[in-house]
Amino acid sequence: MRTPLIAGNWKMNGSTALINDFGSAFADVSLPEALEIVVIPPFPYLEAARQSFRNTPLQLGAQTLNPNGSGAHTGEVSGRMLQEFDVTYVLVGHSERRELYRESDEQVFDRLLAALHVGLKPILCVGESLAERDAGQTMDVVLRQVGYAMARLEPEQRQQVVIAYEPVWAIGTGRTATPEQAQEVMAGIRAYQAGFSTTLAEQLRLLYGGSMNAKNAAELLAQPDIDGGLVGGASLKTDDFYAICQSA
Ligand code: G3P
Repeated sequence: MRTPLIAGNWKMNGSTALINDFGSAFADVSLPEALEIVVIPPFPYLEAARQSFRNTPLQLGAQTLNPNGSGAHTGEVSGRMLQEFDVTYVLVGHSERRELYRESDEQVFDRLLAALHVGLKPILCVGESLAERDAGQTMDVVLRQVGYAMARLEPEQRQQVVIAYEPVWAIGTGRTATPEQAQEVMAGIRAYQAGFSTTLAEQLRLLYGGSMNAKNAAELLAQPDIDGGLVGGASLKTDDFYAICQSA
């Protein structure tokens, strides 16, 4: 049985007030014990979130990390620093990092490895563009991105990875993948993992991201190979995010 995981990626949004709203809203919630909920705010809010989320089921995540432990990397944050703020999960390879900051598969892998080395759980983000989908290249692109990382890891490292499939054309567009489209890609990713180990294929958690909201979450999360969601816009409202968590 895979533990469901709902993560909210705030991207470059939020405020201390919103952090406190989430701390209050999730203080007395009745959600399944097994469900993992992660809020991923911008770096400046990590300490406020650590304090505010103390008596809630909310875990803390980070949106990226620098693969180096310390040094002359102006503007960057290391995995060790994230751990000081009780961060447990970290996104690597989000499509906005790949597109806007030109992160290659190799640079994404370096970040994933750095996360594992300090004990953070990496959420490896993959997904195709609309042009790639229209050209029938979805699985080629997704498995290239997944395979670049998974093929370079040791078996015990692979088990720590969570994979988030986020079709780029569904991110921030309101154009959500259908449950069938999402399930088809997830089944392909899971089948690929079986090439390493059937146990890994069974245990690996696969999240869907891309305009998931309170209305469509239940149908997406009901798919056999979807173990949770990576939520953007809908994670900035406590009610919507809580509703998505209830659907898990
Ligand atoms: O990382 C999650 C994000 O890319 C999805 O954004 O706004 O489409 O839910 P959104």
